[in-house]
Amino acid sequence: MPRPVNRQIVLRSRPVGMPKPGDFELVESRLPAPKDGEILSRTLYLSLDPYMRGRISGARSYAQSVEIGQVIVGATVGEVLESKHPDFAKGDIVQGYSGWQSHGVAAGGTVRKLDPRQAPVSTALGVLGMPGMTAYVGLLDIGRPKPGETVVVSAASGAVGSAVGQIAKMKGARAVGIAGSQDKCDYVVGELGFDACVNYKTGDLPAALRAACPSGIDVYFENVGGDVLRAVMTLLNQNARIPLCGLISEYNATESTPGPSLLPLLFNRALVQGFIVSDHMSRMGDFLKDCGGWVREGRLKHREDIVTGLEKAPEAFIGLLQGKNFGKLLVRVGQDPSK
Ligand SMILES: NC(=O)c1ccc[n+]([C@@H]2O[C@H](COP(=O)([O-])OP(=O)(O)OC[C@H]3O[C@@H](n4cnc5c(N)ncnc54)[C@H](OP(=O)(O)O)[C@@H]3O)[C@@H](O)[C@H]2O)c1
Repeated sequence: MPRPVNRQIVLRSRPVGMPKPGDFELVESRLPAPKDGEILSRTLYLSLDPYMRGRISGARSYAQSVEIGQVIVGATVGEVLESKHPDFAKGDIVQGYSGWQSHGVAAGGTVRKLDPRQAPVSTALGVLGMPGMTAYVGLLDIGRPKPGETVVVSAASGAVGSAVGQIAKMKGARAVGIAGSQDKCDYVVGELGFDACVNYKTGDLPAALRAACPSGIDVYFENVGGDVLRAVMTLLNQNARIPLCGLISEYNATESTPGPSLLPLLFNRALVQGFIVSDHMSRMGDFLKDCGGWVREGRLKHREDIVTGLEKAPEAFIGLLQGKNFGKLLVRVGQDPSK
């Protein structure tokens, strides 16, 4: 029987500024057979994440760039079609890193088997995957919120931000979100239970944030940078903590962006700590136990924004960099058999 065709999205050119659809190309290739110790899977869901903007640029970062002509990297959930690894069988659902393609071959040691009875398998890319874990370790290990403190998080309706505010509430803190539309703010307060949410695209952000944080800000979970960070800095309390998670407003910048004054950090003895979730894998067991339980109990809510078809990945990814996604952005690449 001929091997199935693999559809792949490869990097055609390095984007300058905001990526364009023409920076990506859909190609077809013949699928390799798995060797001993490997599995072949068909992709059910592809996760689209802001860090991918860094990977398709040539700039130095904490991870290697995707080369021109290579498949774009990305986390996936897939169904095993063939296994040459003793721990996996045909029909297993696994979380791996096949990237932007319809099928992937991977070493068995690089994928994690999922149990569809525990939670929908797509959550392994969102609230119970890398973004949820980022929220968990960034907030609890670096932000360390105490009861009664005010925690502010930007990109609050997104995959990371939505979990940050809800976990902050569970720890007895006041949670204030910052998001890019009224709909997103309504969701953050009405559905997720944050105490307040400020739309940074309308009105006077510093004044609105001051009104939402009458006791100042003890923890700022930073996802965006730029004007939002500038407004937050004026409200920091003494001994504030800033888990520096992401700076999405700068990911498409073509020249250096003017930064906020660092004086408030000095005056308030604030701690700013950059972190990369992959350095915190020792916390995976705690994360899955706590967040898995909270999800099953309905205390940690999440929202998915799913587009259908691998060919839609470039457009959806560009939308993510413009705030068009509402919730964890996923591409449905194949039919999910567990649904
Ligand atoms: N350090 C780590 O290990 C790590 C791991 C995962 C994620 N992150 C970072 O966490 C942040 C959130 O990631 P996510 O996966 O949860 O994405 P997300 O929030 O689901 O989606 C990205 C959101 O960012 C906001 N945004 C986009 N462009 C913006 C701009 N120019 N200015 C301000 N906001 C903008 C948009 O929301 P609005 O409409 O509300 O603006 C957009 O919906 C990103 O900065 C990402 O790089 C870091």
